[in-house]
Amino acid sequence: MRKYRKQEHIENYLKTSFHGDPLFKDVFIQHYSLPGFAFNEIDTHVDFMGHSLDFPLMINAITGGTEFAEEINRDLARLAKDFSIPMAVGSQTIALEDEDAVESFTIVRETIGKDGLVFANLNGLLGPEEAKKAVKMIDADALQIHLNPAQELIMEEGDRDFRPVRENIRAIVASLDVPVIVKEVGFGMSSQVIQEIYDLGVRYVDVAGFGGTNFFEVENLRYPEEDYSELFSWGNPTCLCLLLAKDLGLKDLKIIGSGGIRGAEDLFKALVLGSDLGAISGELLNYLIHGGYAYAHQFLDQLQYKFKILMMLTGSKTIEDIKKVPYGLKGDLRSLYDTF
Ligand SMILES: Cc1cc2nc3c(=O)[nH]c(=O)nc-3n(C[C@H](O)[C@H](O)[C@H](O)COP(=O)(O)O)c2cc1C
Repeated sequence: MRKYRKQEHIENYLKTSFHGDPLFKDVFIQHYSLPGFAFNEIDTHVDFMGHSLDFPLMINAITGGTEFAEEINRDLARLAKDFSIPMAVGSQTIALEDEDAVESFTIVRETIGKDGLVFANLNGLLGPEEAKKAVKMIDADALQIHLNPAQELIMEEGDRDFRPVRENIRAIVASLDVPVIVKEVGFGMSSQVIQEIYDLGVRYVDVAGFGGTNFFEVENLRYPEEDYSELFSWGNPTCLCLLLAKDLGLKDLKIIGSGGIRGAEDLFKALVLGSDLGAISGELLNYLIHGGYAYAHQFLDQLQYKFKILMMLTGSKTIEDIKKVPYGLKGDLRSLYDTF
């Protein structure tokens, strides 16, 4: 059952047509014509979790569990290795239940090698024992715990009782010897949720905001006789999540900006709004499925080049400089932000 669902998630994601808006278009950054450095002096390195990454992006959780998923994970891991960026595997619950599914996850560590950053992934209904197994399975450098009540509630076989989640997070943070990242799956996080997670001891949050992959639509495609389309606009747009997260002023909280990152400008704006790292899932999957590894590689290569163009055109020589770039807000983002 779980295996078919994993396969369907990929297939149905590729069939989705609703185009959500993470509101990157409402972030305005002024063009700066007097950069005082050479293009080859631009430094895109970033320190994250004790590692020096070549570029401030990670490949976010997508899949695992089937042969097809194994191929995808191998290609994603090759990309993560090529660009020296972290990668998260998809939810490992399937591999905790079925030994045959393990290889589709371990392929990621095998491909990336021992030096790359690899993140395990589970949902918040599992406890410390499962968390330890998931981390050990792929020798993970961190564990992602995903919060996905919206997705579960429209899955026929989905969970309906989320009472254990807070306590699981607290217990996992206390018992794992690697960091915990709490993430959404595309509906975003409010400042209250981020504050609560922080109070449970978590120091890495991935807002996974609204505007990219839409799990209401992905799941709805599994049930053609039902219509959930009126919920397709539900969620906190990525840019709003980032602004509110920054306003919390939690200095030791690392923020991963994700949800609807489709290119260099989105990533750049996510960093301007305070993300320590950006993350991408759906758009990279599109390139990989439609054109294979080489096409996805070219997409990331161009994204990296365009990102450096934006660094130069804002006078940002380093990633730290990006955080000081002034920005203006307009349109929906301006009015939404003003109401909180
Ligand atoms: C096909 C597919 C499967 C996914 N499976 C998982 C998963 O197993 N665990 C998880 O935490 N997130 C999962 N996600 C969510 C992504 O990690 C990410 O949070 C979300 O897609 C928003 O980013 P995006 O707009 O760049 O796709 C999945 C996304 C896609 C497209």
